Formats: sequence, structure tokens, C-alpha cells
Amino acid sequence: MPRIVPEPYRIKVVEPIRQTTRSERDAILAQAGYNLFFVRSEDVYVDLLTDSGTGAMSDSQWAGMMIGDEAYAYCRNYYSLRDAISDIFGFRYFVPTHQGRAAEKVLFATTLKPGQYVPSNTHFDTTHANVEQVGAHAVDLPIAEGLVPTSHHPFKGNMDVERLERLIGDIGADRIPLAMLTITNNSGGGQPVSMANLRAARQVLSAYRIPLFIDACRFAENCYFIQQREEGYAGKPIIEIAREAFSYADGCTMSAKKDGLANIGGFLAMNDESLYQQACQRLILWEGFITYGGLAGRDLEVVARGLREALDERYLQHRIGQVQYLGDRLLGQGVPIVEPPGGHAIYLDARRFLPHIPQAQLPGQSLVAHLYLEGGIRAVEIGSVMFASKDESSGKTKYPELELVRLAIPRRVYTQTHLDYVADVIGEIYRKREQIRGMRYTYEPPFLRHFTARFAFV
Ligand code: F0G
Repeated sequence: MPRIVPEPYRIKVVEPIRQTTRSERDAILAQAGYNLFFVRSEDVYVDLLTDSGTGAMSDSQWAGMMIGDEAYAYCRNYYSLRDAISDIFGFRYFVPTHQGRAAEKVLFATTLKPGQYVPSNTHFDTTHANVEQVGAHAVDLPIAEGLVPTSHHPFKGNMDVERLERLIGDIGADRIPLAMLTITNNSGGGQPVSMANLRAARQVLSAYRIPLFIDACRFAENCYFIQQREEGYAGKPIIEIAREAFSYADGCTMSAKKDGLANIGGFLAMNDESLYQQACQRLILWEGFITYGGLAGRDLEVVARGLREALDERYLQHRIGQVQYLGDRLLGQGVPIVEPPGGHAIYLDARRFLPHIPQAQLPGQSLVAHLYLEGGIRAVEIGSVMFASKDESSGKTKYPELELVRLAIPRRVYTQTHLDYVADVIGEIYRKREQIRGMRYTYEPPFLRHFTARFAFV
């Protein structure tokens, strides 16, 4: 793969962004309690908080909005989306939802009972929370290499299928109503899952008649990695790889805010008719009628077109190339990152970046604050602020293994110059890293801490 792949699009509309001064940023961040979730988007220069819903639509998608049919039932855009889903994913039934977590809520409320288990390579926060919400247990079974930031395994997102088999043996297949695979594995660094792993998981689950659902948010990026890295898939069209991948599953949840190239939208798809009928009941209660599920007709059209655009190989080559490019620029300056780069983001390894700051002093959050202070860049901490937990019996804080800062790249939004700028700013911070201090909480909310906590430097 060539290192630099030029943009396979030209820019038709621009949105001005403003760089603030260092003294403005000092004031803005202090005002926000050093939590980037409280900073106005207008005060951010390069926003890498998430790749979810932040992409740029194509001219075809904007044109699709004009043919939005806003009828309540069976609007024409429902059929566009139905055709795209059946063509790419091959499932018999689907319901649209307003975003991914709504699809998860409908799926788990329909299939799970308290005390049951849902294994996955790694559950994303919202799937984890939706499983636990109905009183079931979300179990993460990543392969060991997936937890080592420097391991160069080509499919670090894989599930440990031996552990899956052991889990089924230990607790019994009747307590596992379904299993999940997240492609790519967001919480594990945006790392892909191989076709061989999908097949192996399918095989084990089939033996026990346990359905497999794919969390498909970044399925196109995952399929591109399979094409590039897995034997037997070189040169194969991405859509064919996608069809094979989903042929091993009984259904999927999807946030179209990622590889649907849409600003809003999602769906739940499945083969089982009775599951579909039950899902329809809950959908009507929570999201809307079964053909729009919380979306406008125009949104359905945008998702239908976006799903197909996401499979364009030149688009994927550029997209994954952009992430790789930023990774290479950082590695070239000695900056520690999770390797190899994943599909949608670069993850800075804050423990190696700031080894003098103990986890109790939140090195990831301190790095996030410096990215903003130094360059107006917004990133998100995925470490102690997000995941540290108190052990009830000993009262001690349990810190997560990884202390990361995610730089998520929105789709089709930033140019290579923006990424060069980000790499320069981070290089600058890295050279001054010894002067960086840790942080403490000035307000620590009881749960979902990262959204509303406030901090100060120690
Ligand atoms: N599954 C994965 C793997 C995700 O990354 C996300 C969202 C969801 C499910 C939920 O989808 O946001 O449409 O409800 N991830 C975003 C992120 C929020 O920033 O990584 P949603």
C-alpha cells in the first residue's frame, strides 16, 4: 500500500474553522474544568473527539436528501435502504433506528433475560451498558495480543475463540442467548477481526446453537483490512468480503454514523422472523414505525447511499491511508502509539508518553488537556477517567491496563495538511513531556465520569 493516497474527492463546500490563541485556550479550558466535552465546537480547530456522525456527506447523499419521502409508512427511501442492506449484508429483515445504541437496546431487550451472558471480542460502552441494563452480563474475550499496545498482530481485534468455548463449557449454552463480534474493535484500538476468526467463532457457536450478531459500525474498514492482510482476499471486491463476513452471522447492529457515512442513523438486521416481529413491537414503542425508526425519510436515503459509498475501494484506501499517515508521522518522532494503527483512529499510549505521571494523576486526561492548549485539538481520554473503578471491599481504586488518548479521524473532513499540523503539535508536546504535570478531580461524578467530570493540574 503506498504511504500517501491522495483524496479521491474534491471539495465543493467549505466550513470555516477558527484557530484560537494560546491565551484564549488557557481561559476556555479553565472555564471548562479541563474537560473537553465542555468546550464549544467553535473553539476547537481540529476536532478528533469522534468519527461518529462527524463525516462529510457526498454530493449524491445531499441530492438524496431532496428526494426524501416524508410519508409515515413505507416511504420510498425505506426501499432504498432495504435494497442496500439486503445487497451488502444479506439479512432477510431489518428495522431502522436513530443510531447504533437504539438498535442495541431493541436487540438486547428482545433477546436477553437477567443473569444471562453475552460474550464478545470487546463490547463497546453502549453495547456493554445495554446488556447490563437488562440484568445480563457482558463478557469481553479479546485475544491476548489485543491488549499489548506494541504487538503487531494483523488482526488484534480477534476474539479468543478458545476462551469462548471454555466460557460456554463453564456456564452452559442455555445461559448465552447470543454472542457479538465488534468489527472493527473500537474499544481495542479500532483493530480488525479476520475472516478466519469470524468463521471460527461461527463454528463454535453453531455447535451450541448460539446466534452470532455483528456490531457492524466500521464493517467496511474491517473488510478493507481483510483484503489487505488476510490470505486469499487480495484483490477481492470489498462488497464480496462484506457478504462473506455477514454470512457467518445471524444479524447485526449498525451505527450508520460511522461506515454509513451519515450524520445520524442506524439499524438492526436479522434473519429470524420471530425476532424481527418482536423487535418491531419494541421499535414502535421506542423509535417509531417499522419503516422509519426515528429517522426522517431523507435520512434513510442518506444511509442507503452512504453504505454503498463506504465500500468504494479508493475511498477506503484513502481513509485507512490517512490514519496510517498520521501514525507514521507520530512514530517518526518517537511518539508512543498503539501499533499497528487501526481503522478510524490513532491511540496515543499515555503511560509511555508520560511515564513520570502515575495513573492516579490521570496522564491521559493531562495529555488531552495539552493537545488543546498547545494546538486547539480535541481528543478523548480512554483510560482511568473513563474506566477506573472502586473496589467496594477494599476501597482501593482499580486502574485500567491501558491509558490511551484517542484521535478519531472524521470521514472525508480533514486534509493531509490538518494531519501534518496535528502530528507537529503532538511532536512539540512530546519534546516537552517532562514538564507536563498530572491532574486531579475537582468534581468526580458517580458514573459515566468522563462526560461531566472537572479537573485541575496537580
Ligand atoms: N458500537 C461501536 C463499536 C461504536 O463505536 C459505537 C459508537 C456504537 C456501537 C454506538 O453507536 O453512537 O450510533 O449509538 N461509537 C462512538 C465513538 C460514540 O465515538 O466511538 P451510536
